[in-house]
Amino acid sequence: MIKVTPDELKLMAQLIYEYCGVVVGPDKSYLIESRLSPLAEQLCCKSYREFYNMARSERDGQIRVQIIDKITTGETQFFRDKQLFEALRFKIIPDMIDFRMTNKVVDRNISVWSAACSSGQEPYSLAITFLETIPDIARWNLKIMASDISDEAFRKASLGRYTRLEVSRGLTEVQLAKYFTPKDQSWQVNDRIRAMVSFRKINLLEPFCGIGRFDMIFCRNVAIYFNRETKIKLFDSLANALNRQGHFFLGSSESLADISTRYKMRNHLRCIYYELIS
Ligand SMILES: C[S@@+](CC[C@H](N)C(=O)[O-])C[C@H]1O[C@@H](n2cnc3c(N)ncnc32)[C@H](O)[C@@H]1O
Repeated sequence: MIKVTPDELKLMAQLIYEYCGVVVGPDKSYLIESRLSPLAEQLCCKSYREFYNMARSERDGQIRVQIIDKITTGETQFFRDKQLFEALRFKIIPDMIDFRMTNKVVDRNISVWSAACSSGQEPYSLAITFLETIPDIARWNLKIMASDISDEAFRKASLGRYTRLEVSRGLTEVQLAKYFTPKDQSWQVNDRIRAMVSFRKINLLEPFCGIGRFDMIFCRNVAIYFNRETKIKLFDSLANALNRQGHFFLGSSESLADISTRYKMRNHLRCIYYELIS
């Protein structure tokens, strides 16, 4: 394993921050060494300075893609944070449908964005939740867009195929039998669920105008790696991508307190979520 010096750690931290906004502190030598040493060795680099120079001077962006894949952690699972999915099922989705019916809103589009979706468990859990919550779902035009910066996450999410361990994390046996098909020792998400989700590669730190507006945006467990300034900018851009009174969801350990005044905090039982106010 190639050892990183304090100066090299600073250089690599700067590079990683520019690539994906992840903040690597001065105590994180182990992170660089454990995640990037194999890649640096594969490229025949003797030090991280050499690796840094190679990444800086590359033309095709291949090293950049691989560094992002190694650094951004893709930890996820189906129905991560049960309280959130219960709030969607019993409060947020029914309220949205009731509001449109009561106010005779003719618009039958429901647009959802799972930003930083990792390997796809989040958007597929959302698709299952909508399907099971709206009885006449066929009469609604539901579109779930899912995105991630990582090539590997994008590939796996769009394939929709999961190991036994992955499906055992969060799915009930009934959901597994209903929405997945066994295939070569793994489980393939069924076409009906797959067709409800489209996938894109999006770096949340780059401008994402032109992707449309959404009724719900899920940006969970990604901004924890960003600094305050990056979070302020990101949550502001995401507010611009929400429809009026759109809903915004963070991970259970995250908060918008002192970061943005554009959202109002709401709760349903122990689930906290946000509504756009300006
Ligand atoms: C911990 S996973 C969260 C997955 C899912 N949202 C959840 O809560 O289970 C974080 C994801 O954020 C992605 N990510 C990190 N930096 C990103 C960036 N700048 N733009 C978009 N995605 C990013 C990573 O590739 C990773 O898949």
